[in-house]
Amino acid sequence: MGVTRADEGTDVRMQKAVSAVAGVALALAMLPAGAAPPTGPERPSVGSPGIGDPYFPQYGNGGYRIGHYDVGVAFDPATERLTGDTIVTGRATQRLTRFNLDLVLRASSVWVNGMPARFRHTGRELVVTPRTALREGQRMQVRVVYAGVPEDVTDDGIKPWFTTPDGAVAVGEPEIAAWWFPSNDHPADKATFDVDLTVPRGLQALSNGRLVGVDRADGQATWRWTSGAPMATYLAFAAFGRYDMVQGSTESGRPFLNAFAKSLNPRVDRAARVSIRRTGEVTDFLARTWGRYPFQQIGGVVTSRNFGFALENQTRPVYSPAFFSSGRNTSIVVHEMAHQWFGNAVTVRRWKNIWLNEGFATYSEWLWAQDQGFETTDEQFDRFYDNFGTKDSFWNIPIGNPGPRRLFTGAVYDRGAMTVHALGEEVGHETLRRIGRHWVHRNADGVGSTAEFIALAERLSGRRLGAFFRNWLFSGEKPPRPPT
Ligand code: TRP
Ligand code: ZN
Repeated sequence: MGVTRADEGTDVRMQKAVSAVAGVALALAMLPAGAAPPTGPERPSVGSPGIGDPYFPQYGNGGYRIGHYDVGVAFDPATERLTGDTIVTGRATQRLTRFNLDLVLRASSVWVNGMPARFRHTGRELVVTPRTALREGQRMQVRVVYAGVPEDVTDDGIKPWFTTPDGAVAVGEPEIAAWWFPSNDHPADKATFDVDLTVPRGLQALSNGRLVGVDRADGQATWRWTSGAPMATYLAFAAFGRYDMVQGSTESGRPFLNAFAKSLNPRVDRAARVSIRRTGEVTDFLARTWGRYPFQQIGGVVTSRNFGFALENQTRPVYSPAFFSSGRNTSIVVHEMAHQWFGNAVTVRRWKNIWLNEGFATYSEWLWAQDQGFETTDEQFDRFYDNFGTKDSFWNIPIGNPGPRRLFTGAVYDRGAMTVHALGEEVGHETLRRIGRHWVHRNADGVGSTAEFIALAERLSGRRLGAFFRNWLFSGEKPPRPPT
């Protein structure tokens, strides 16, 4: 698999060079013809501007699927400007006279299968009209050259990108990709990634997966990263700046790469290192619980600025320093690493399925706490159950359909974890583990929905669970206490 991946990487990079040359040649060849429009009776067949997620109608696109992203970006901290040259490779799922990618930065040229294409921007959408229509099932290779200052772009009141004194960080959920590469920006379309990040020499540039190498030339350094397992667009990250990188192999033989912003306060830095150093041990614990770790690499990145969260970026979560400001914090590492199984290996098909991510990640924290000799999962469940009375607004949110503005509300996490524990009480905790393992490993590299999860739980437990899940996921009331 390593060899195949390397070959594919080389192939795509060669195509980038070839398509650049072809693009110039074609542009020249077209000059005498002037503005001759494409010939032939082209009945329009337009790819939809959204993938069909009711929470976010504009996110993702229809009419094609992406197989691979070859992202190339350069970031200059002095100007905060990002320049990009990215190739996305996919396949049309219908005839396409026109299709969209999601990108908030401005494109200067677009090629489709080596031919210059017309394009325009509307909001987050890059609308591409290839010179000839793509046939259903046809391979498509789209190269976009683009630039902009991501820090200056707010879309729909959202600006997930943030800068630091020495760089920037692209981390966000559910949106971030459109601020640094053209994409089919929805978790339902996962793809493999090669990410090349160019920064002034002396800075570091981090992303997911394996560090292939660093090319240094002309006062610049290009950090080349590769992710061979399919990844959702929101899980791809980039961090530019001054980082101390720590690489090695864990006791159980997993390659790790951690990075700590150099400007961290020494006390926070210590606590962060002590916590993130345990990622290997945490991964081993989670693998004993939920089956083998789905990826090849592990790690963690601590940024210099707080962005209010930590995010489970595939193979390498990114943490705000605030998580370590009052000492070591292993729970957050457990949470983000549990997402590698729940969220990253098996990904939400629609954003309303978010409890499948946050519920299992939070429940995994409960399991860790129990294993460390703190509260048992029963005690943790009871603490929430007894704390929130029938009238408490905690119970108002049906976490199986929380609404786009409540995706990450506390109940999605805590009622989500309670749902998982209550399911264990209902069907037996051994069966719960089997359900969790099957859920992840049957759907690994793909997506899943709540309905599919319920069907699996019913099949593996041999029980009808409609009423159980209605109470726990879809009611705005406190569910009955599970039988003990
Ligand atoms: N999924 C993240 C977690 O639970 C939380 C999160 C939601 C987040 N939105 C975000 C993190 C935006 C970073 C940026 O760990
Ligand atoms: Zn989470």
